[in-house]
Amino acid sequence: MDNTAIIAELNEILKHEWTGVAQYAQASFIIEGVWREVYASHFLGDAKESFKHAQLIGEKIVALGGVPVATRNEIKQSRELQEVLQFSLEFEEKAVAMYTKVIEMAEGNRPLVVFLEDILKEEQEGVDEYTKLLRQSPAKQSSADTSSKVG
Ligand SMILES: [Fe+2]
Repeated sequence: MDNTAIIAELNEILKHEWTGVAQYAQASFIIEGVWREVYASHFLGDAKESFKHAQLIGEKIVALGGVPVATRNEIKQSRELQEVLQFSLEFEEKAVAMYTKVIEMAEGNRPLVVFLEDILKEEQEGVDEYTKLLRQSPAKQSSADTSSKVG
């Protein structure tokens, strides 16, 4: 079986996971104010999850006969918590889309599909989590309060 296309797609995923390591670590480093207490460790946890996925995908690329990339995409960063949460949701949604695509490509290779589905499940948990956080964000509520007072 020729794995070239799947290896190329897994390398795009690996780049995305390396982006996640840097983007979430940066979010953890720079968050200040009272929400640092909550979100510094939250974002660091997500950086570690991206590293875990990068490790799994890098090992799998080699097992399939490929060479893992050691590059990443540009990260998105902000001092506004609301914006960081939005970047995080977008990051997780892109991961879900990428894993969904490569799973379709891996059809017929049951063990590879199962391996990728385990990661996909965690990516979707990330989407769910950031969707809920954005829905109940204190930043969102306080800006709503401000606008109602101003209005
Ligand atoms: Fe991931």
